[in-house]
Amino acid sequence: MKHLLEVADLGADGIDQVLRLTDSFVEVSGRTIPKVPALRGKTVVSLFYEDSTRTRLSFETAAKRLSADTMSFSVSSSSVSKGEGLRDTVETIDAMGVDAIVVRHKSSGVPWRIASWVRASVVNAGDGWHEHPTQALLDCYTIRSRRGSLDGLRIAIVGDIAHSRVARSDVTAFAALGASVTLVAPPTLLPPSLEGWPVQVCHRLDEVLGGLDVVYLLRLQRERMTEALIPSLREYRTLYGLTAERAGRLRPDALIMHPGPMNRGVEIDAEAAGDARSVITAQVANGVAVRMAVLYLLLGSGADLVAPLPELAAQA
Ligand code: CP
Repeated sequence: MKHLLEVADLGADGIDQVLRLTDSFVEVSGRTIPKVPALRGKTVVSLFYEDSTRTRLSFETAAKRLSADTMSFSVSSSSVSKGEGLRDTVETIDAMGVDAIVVRHKSSGVPWRIASWVRASVVNAGDGWHEHPTQALLDCYTIRSRRGSLDGLRIAIVGDIAHSRVARSDVTAFAALGASVTLVAPPTLLPPSLEGWPVQVCHRLDEVLGGLDVVYLLRLQRERMTEALIPSLREYRTLYGLTAERAGRLRPDALIMHPGPMNRGVEIDAEAAGDARSVITAQVANGVAVRMAVLYLLLGSGADLVAPLPELAAQA
């Protein structure tokens, strides 16, 4: 595998292989010195044209734990502020001999363009409303680590589906692993067409809440909205927020998930985020190991897939 641009690059077998490889990197991350020399001599650059906390830091941590060199690109302090375009920027970075470019951009499709211009491997760290494949992988890993498998689980993704790259990647990955996915949102927060999406749709969270294995809350992406799509935040919370009262109606073994950043008091109350069934912090922690697995598959001796796990253990 040369690039990871979308979940479909992996398919169900590829997702499974990433998740199995992630197990070994969770073990590495738990060591006193959480580092292996798997990518020594490789260079990974973060090229983020959009803000990020979790994805950027976890990719950089993942690269360091694999002993890769890292470079970080900041739009505000780069020659982009002097008018340098995307292609010149990435060709400049590629000319320095980097091995992987981890890119986030507000426009859908940019990682594909970059992949066509450079020699390096490209990882999509979020493109517009389109895809966020490593978020989907860490979400699958988190669910699998708690429930053993996604097969047959009932998962509701709740909120601003229309503007969510996480929803698009998660739907593909969850369905590939056998989960039954329901999108819960008002019609204004759903994409204009759901043709081809392997999902059910429900406009009332209370209708599905009690039967869920996983409730996955999404932030209202107001930075991507060009018009008012909900009457008010208060009404949105009343109909779609995971309040403490609604959390009380979830099954005892249900999982509460959120990709972050959270808007507490809107799509999720602080009590629900801190509930014993919340795995939101585990999602972040698993993000590092999942991204180690992805970088290892792209740049390391795992490039042909199938993890050489004993080899990794021997590198300790
Ligand atoms: N989940 C996610 O992509 O978070 P960041 O925007 O902080 O990277």
